Amino acid sequence: MMTIRNIITEPNEILRQVSKPVQAVGNEERKLMDDMLETMYAANGIGLAAIQIGIPKRIIVIDISKDGKKNPMCFVNPTIKNKDKEKTTYEEGCLSVPNYFAEVDRPKYCEVEYLDYNGENKILEAEGLLATCIQHEMDHLEGILFIDYLSKLKKTMIVKKLSKRKNPPDRIIV
Ligand code: NI
Repeated sequence: MMTIRNIITEPNEILRQVSKPVQAVGNEERKLMDDMLETMYAANGIGLAAIQIGIPKRIIVIDISKDGKKNPMCFVNPTIKNKDKEKTTYEEGCLSVPNYFAEVDRPKYCEVEYLDYNGENKILEAEGLLATCIQHEMDHLEGILFIDYLSKLKKTMIVKKLSKRKNPPDRIIV
């Protein structure tokens, strides 16, 4: 049974926490990853970090497949081994910073070591969208949001507007 969890949005100090390494991948972690994927799909996101649902564990999930066929990827304790000097730019958004998008430059290629859904040690070479997505999600594990890369003025404006929302809409699944 998978549960759709509440996604925490900026401004919220929880999003600024540094997440803690996972000791071992067991049923509890797998249930968390299932819930994270379900939550991400329901919100139409392509990546989610555990801290975004209030759990300070170093776990991220990603699915960048486009053809309607799911391709869930789970990363526990991810670390970047190698990255490109060459940068690539995407217009990024974030489920924790609803309705704002901004161009962010990130290394075009990265090599990431992690434990997968079954707790097996893996190394993945990622480039383009996947590399950007992994780096965006890994930032969440350090308490960093993509708006932190913007000018102070632009960031302040976004956070101010987000805090002014009186009745943020409920997330509904229909
Ligand atoms: Ni995000």
